[in-house]
Amino acid sequence: MRIFASLSFAVLALASATASAQTPAAPRAPSQMVAQTPPMGWNSWNYFAEKVDDKGVRAAADQIVATGMRDAGYVYVNIDDTWEGERDSSGVLHSNAKFPDMKALADYVHSKGLKIGIYSSPGPKTCAGYEGSLGHEEQDARLYASWGIDYLKYDLCSFIPAVMMKQAPNDKAEQMRIMIAAYDKMSKALQAAGRPIVLSLCQYGWDAVWEWAPSVGGNLWRTTGDISPHWDRIYAILSQQAGLESYAGPGHWNDPDMLEVGNGRLNLAENHAHFTLWAMLAAPLLAGNDLTNMKPEIKAILTNRDVIAIDQDPLDRQGVRAYSDGEVEVWTRQLQGGAIAICVLDAGDNRYSTHPFHLNLVKLGLHGPQAGKDLWTGRPITLTDQQPIELESHDVLLVRIDTPR
Ligand code: GLA
Repeated sequence: MRIFASLSFAVLALASATASAQTPAAPRAPSQMVAQTPPMGWNSWNYFAEKVDDKGVRAAADQIVATGMRDAGYVYVNIDDTWEGERDSSGVLHSNAKFPDMKALADYVHSKGLKIGIYSSPGPKTCAGYEGSLGHEEQDARLYASWGIDYLKYDLCSFIPAVMMKQAPNDKAEQMRIMIAAYDKMSKALQAAGRPIVLSLCQYGWDAVWEWAPSVGGNLWRTTGDISPHWDRIYAILSQQAGLESYAGPGHWNDPDMLEVGNGRLNLAENHAHFTLWAMLAAPLLAGNDLTNMKPEIKAILTNRDVIAIDQDPLDRQGVRAYSDGEVEVWTRQLQGGAIAICVLDAGDNRYSTHPFHLNLVKLGLHGPQAGKDLWTGRPITLTDQQPIELESHDVLLVRIDTPR
């Protein structure tokens, strides 16, 4: 149902050429202190897509509690596209038949100690063709606040043809200004509505969004097109994150898209690697799987407290790709108290193509043996320079070193 997807890619090619060399903008004065660490929770889209309904959202909330995910930090239960119904004669938007009573649903989610998120578009229609917020921004923001909504994902979609291309044909720079103004408008509408609501920008990374999103009150912004549960797509997105690290910080995060852990045919190594690298990136951790039928090994990944602690580390420093050697990449992340996380990824499709891999600690500025913890086995590990590391294809080693030397 991604009816605007092909259009999006066409415009993306043009838009990237106009990405201006703006200086990073300071976040707007936070009257609403939200997303001080990368938001964590669950979103309906990656698994349920248009099949999401009230019952499914309640079940997800129940499972977040029952599986221990809430206590591990997952608090947002986010309804993505396809909840929208029609506007009445006063312009008030109603949810569709799948969601008989949004306020009651929000109350239910809140009663579990969780928060609730919703989705809209600045255009006339959402990506799946449902009602968008164009011309009703303040009204919709007030509606969300009255329901008790805590998070809004605002997805560009039909705003491109209906407004940007119509108002400024052949003027990409003006189209981008129109787009930024649309996000600013909803941000101000949310602030005026008086409820702290996380604002998630979804416009696929156009026009170097990381440079201006904080100045329009964006708490996170998608850096790429959509994720899918395929290793090649996950790895392609990962590759586009290197270099964006300076834009992440409290209240404003790069978003490489929601998690596919437990979805599709990702194998165990790929699920580990995906979750690990999103934690290294200080990415929002929004699980996107069917929590009711979650396998124990998937639950173990999503609730690994040590890995979550890397993602949520209070130093708020996004990880960097330190170096790569053939098909092996070494990512590092500085952590609070002088600690460091080191992730070695075998991105190769054939395990033997990358063997033997010898870790170069000197390249990481480390000297001598480094005692740490392997965060996937939970066991102590000592890394040494030129140590051979055996990894399956698409697997990772993730080590935390509290006192690096
Ligand atoms: C776009 C977004 C997705 C999802 C769908 C819903 O494709 O990028 O994350 O929200 O729209 O229609």
